[in-house]
Amino acid sequence: MVVDKGYEKAAHLYDLFDTKENIDFFFRYGKEAGVILDIGAGTGRIAIPLAKRGVKVVCIEPSPAMRNEFSQKLKHQSDLSDKITLIAGDVQSFELPEVFPAVFLSGSFDHIPDSERVTSLQNINRHLKLEGKLIFDVYIGGMKDSPLALIDTVKRGDYEYKRFIGTKTLPDDTIEVLLAYETYKQGKLIEKIEQPSSAVITTRVKVHELLHETGFSIKNEYGDYHFSPFKEGDSFLIIEAIKSK
Ligand SMILES: C[S@@+](CC[C@H](N)C(=O)[O-])C[C@H]1O[C@@H](n2cnc3c(N)ncnc32)[C@H](O)[C@@H]1O
Repeated sequence: MVVDKGYEKAAHLYDLFDTKENIDFFFRYGKEAGVILDIGAGTGRIAIPLAKRGVKVVCIEPSPAMRNEFSQKLKHQSDLSDKITLIAGDVQSFELPEVFPAVFLSGSFDHIPDSERVTSLQNINRHLKLEGKLIFDVYIGGMKDSPLALIDTVKRGDYEYKRFIGTKTLPDDTIEVLLAYETYKQGKLIEKIEQPSSAVITTRVKVHELLHETGFSIKNEYGDYHFSPFKEGDSFLIIEAIKSK
């Protein structure tokens, strides 16, 4: 049975809305490393453009719906077959026979429950070469609870897609997230999806502690994907960590 952790119902809409401009950021690391392990690779939003630029990418993705979207895209990109490997797996338990010079977690770390973070980072550490890099982003600090509200509208020909979000923080710093999607064709509502998921809010200090506990040292911290240094008060943190043991 597939456990829906938040990506099973709306994977076909993921690329429409998730248009973060971070490909050049990840390419800088991909180019340096040559081969990347991309964990929580989703629809291949990062892996495919990197592979097109010559980087080899091994992808781990637990969601069948996201893997399906990824595989559909790969069907039209036969030239990338020697550059991309897509594997079903979870950050905490995947096992590969090789070690990598770099690992990416883009938009995935927030989904790892607190109780699985140490084992997940240990598993990543096992799959990195000594002094290999772990690059990941994480939301830090609190978040205001909000009822379901429209956050994005995307138009494509006759179609209009709307995305709504509602959030509620629980006492254990888990955030219940409800994403809702409406698809309109020529103004008529033709699809409505509600997709619950959860994320964990943490602090920068806790992330530092976790990394030290699991054999990493921190090389750089950014506040955005343009390599701007992280500033106190930023709610988004991108970490470049090195496997130190
Ligand atoms: C916001 S999406 C990011 C996808 C892609 N990395 C990107 O940047 O577009 C988060 C991804 O993390 C995956 N994910 C969630 N929990 C995970 C886990 N325990 N192990 C590995 N991936 C996980 C989800 O299935 C989803 O594809």
